[in-house]
Amino acid sequence: MIKRRELLQLSTALLAGQSLQLRADVPATLPLIQRPIPSTGELLPVMGMGTSRTFDTAGDPASLAPLLEVMQAFFAGGGTAIDSSPMYGNAESRVGDVLRAMPEPPTLFSATKVWTTGRQQGVAQMEESARRMNVERFDLIAVHNLQDWQTHLETLKQWKEQGKVRYIGITTSHGRDHAALLEIMRRQPLDFVQFSYNIEDRTAEQELLPVAAERGIATMINRPYQRGALFSKSRGKELPSLAADLDVTSWGQFYLKYILGHPAVTCIIPATASVAHMADNMRANYGRLPDPQQRAEMLRLFEQL
Ligand SMILES: NC(=O)c1ccc[n+]([C@@H]2O[C@H](COP(=O)([O-])OP(=O)(O)OC[C@H]3O[C@@H](n4cnc5c(N)ncnc54)[C@H](OP(=O)(O)O)[C@@H]3O)[C@@H](O)[C@H]2O)c1
Repeated sequence: MIKRRELLQLSTALLAGQSLQLRADVPATLPLIQRPIPSTGELLPVMGMGTSRTFDTAGDPASLAPLLEVMQAFFAGGGTAIDSSPMYGNAESRVGDVLRAMPEPPTLFSATKVWTTGRQQGVAQMEESARRMNVERFDLIAVHNLQDWQTHLETLKQWKEQGKVRYIGITTSHGRDHAALLEIMRRQPLDFVQFSYNIEDRTAEQELLPVAAERGIATMINRPYQRGALFSKSRGKELPSLAADLDVTSWGQFYLKYILGHPAVTCIIPATASVAHMADNMRANYGRLPDPQQRAEMLRLFEQL
């Protein structure tokens, strides 16, 4: 964990920097897009952030400084939901370090996962995650990749009843887990489910998204860029004219708004270690969304790349 004096130095450097101006890049006329969490009606800005790999860094000031700027750009862009996991190496600790270095406490929707076997191990891990991420109470804890899900879901239901967590859920990014995940979605009282969905991998449209809508489960979408692979298709290609109708100024926003065009999507968690990419992603937190006809056209255009 970084020392308090170093944190203060980082905060001062940040205040002197330009990232606070990033919201200014988004025209004030564009509305923030928010979607309700079905189980409560609480509104969530649609653009969250992931932390896998990008926040798994050393805890020295030199490594932390760029992450601080990335997260500042996230909050400046109206984001609140940050997704992490004990599976992501040092990521939870780096999120905690950066949150402690923020000049003002941000509006945060804190999400992590439980990824172990056994009840006691799960409880100990969730308590450790709260210390690492510097949160008193998580907004969301999800069972990571279905691991020992029966055990952890029982604990999470109790924690929710006791007010120790606000929302509970389950995650995967593997197609092989979809049948089991659907079964859990149909039978268990989940607030959130997290899975992969993007313009190239649209498997979730078949059952996961419809069942989430039917059961009133919020969806948090991971791998929105297919781990970055989508950009190799669009690199150097001109944006189609349709982009302007959707307030889209980059291929990244094009891919994110395609996902947001699905009505069963609650929020998306792209991951980036770049301030410019974060500012780009946060622009998709605002403006117009595609209707079904425009989405079909986006897909046609993507398939021609
Ligand atoms: N089972 C699970 O629970 C599970 C599984 C997978 C993922 N997740 C969560 O979902 C998050 C997102 O998934 P992911 O990280 O695997 O993949 P992703 O968000 O689809 O892709 C990340 C890649 O996209 C690049 N990128 C981001 N924004 C960009 C932009 N605007 N322009 C160009 N490149 C951009 C990043 O590179 P730069 O750093 O260079 O921007 C990075 O290489 C994870 O961090 C994690 O929190 C959860």
